[in-house]
Amino acid sequence: MPDIFDKCTRFDRQSRIVSDRDRATAYQVVYRKSPLNNAGPWVEHEDGQFLQFSTNDYLGLASHPALKKAATEIVEKYGVSAPMGARPLTGTIELHNELEKEIADFKRTEKSLVFSNGAFAMMGALAALAGPRDLVVMDRYAHASLVCGAKISGGRIRFFQHNDVEHLEAILLETPRSQPRMVVVDGVYSMQGDIAPLADLCDVCEKHGARLIVDDAHGTGVCGENGRGVAEMLGVEDRIDLHLGTCSKALATTGGFAAGDAVVINYLKYAAPTILFTKAMPACVAAATLESLRLVRQAHDRRKKVWENRALLQDGLRQLGYELGNTQTPITPVHGNGTDAVHMSRALFQEHRIWASAVLYPAVPIGTSILRVIPTANHQTSDIQKLLSAMKDLKRLHSGQASQPPDAPASAPDEPADEP
Ligand SMILES: Cc1ncc(COP(=O)(O)O)c(C=O)c1O
Repeated sequence: MPDIFDKCTRFDRQSRIVSDRDRATAYQVVYRKSPLNNAGPWVEHEDGQFLQFSTNDYLGLASHPALKKAATEIVEKYGVSAPMGARPLTGTIELHNELEKEIADFKRTEKSLVFSNGAFAMMGALAALAGPRDLVVMDRYAHASLVCGAKISGGRIRFFQHNDVEHLEAILLETPRSQPRMVVVDGVYSMQGDIAPLADLCDVCEKHGARLIVDDAHGTGVCGENGRGVAEMLGVEDRIDLHLGTCSKALATTGGFAAGDAVVINYLKYAAPTILFTKAMPACVAAATLESLRLVRQAHDRRKKVWENRALLQDGLRQLGYELGNTQTPITPVHGNGTDAVHMSRALFQEHRIWASAVLYPAVPIGTSILRVIPTANHQTSDIQKLLSAMKDLKRLHSGQASQPPDAPASAPDEPADEP
């Protein structure tokens, strides 16, 4: 009799993702235990220091004293979990209202809504906004939390080829105009590091009556002169129908948000399952996020530094012959075949005391892997040089890591392009 848990026993034996030969190494690298203070760049570890290159603490705010102070004051007075309860019941406090006002102001929208984490913002917004009669057209590489939200919505999902606006338009033309439709993209693609062609996407959406929803988890704080994200960078802020974001990257706390017209945000407040049926963002996190948002808005020097570090690192890696695909942001994917990245990650850590995470399926297409390297504003030039010198060493000792960037979908690799 088949058991629904059979897949769990099969999982350990299957060689689809990691070959038998590589399994032990993969287990050493993936889910490797991190020390508590892992934001870095230099991290104290039980057996000495290491250099961190894999967190999304882009502006280096994770250990900022202002964030610690804001959170600690709340924890000392009210504990870790205040306020108890879900937002619609007992969980909404003045700090949430303040944070929502600040985020709306930052994103130049009428209103915003704060969720207890980023993935909940993406899932909740899509689940609430699309229904069984609607069409959701998504970039092939859209983040898994968006794909998840689209699936929960019950809407008809179609994927267009990554950043291919012509393909998007062809899909919109094939489907009846009478069907309400939304187009969903990331601002910055979290594994590839490239950005969405938002101006062209706005043109096509406006032409075909589709709403454009952008998850700018990685652009917020980093892209645009004032850190308002890719939409600011490309001059299209007021043409995006709904901005989604997370507090867990440049903002260096945890949580997520949706920002847009008041009518949409008011609706999400009552329709997004991920705000209705879960505990509110803790007050200590809301207080720290208010501080980090204030810092992010002023962080022109930190933004400059992260982009300088990005240029130094990516130029250096390309000169060494590594394949970085089309990245346009600090996200630096070193592409590898099979489990190459696992071996690179292990060698970097064991031989050079550098942490750069290996990313495997399902975050990247099956049969490929990437070493995901992320410079932050806190890295010194000497840190980048240390990494480059280690990568040079790796190239010499373990040849054959660099390969072509993947051309298959990242977030839903085994999904059919169309779902009924
Ligand atoms: C593009 C994108 N969207 C959403 C999320 C989810 O955000 P969080 O980790 O804050 O839940 C992530 C994080 O990995 C992401 O990269």
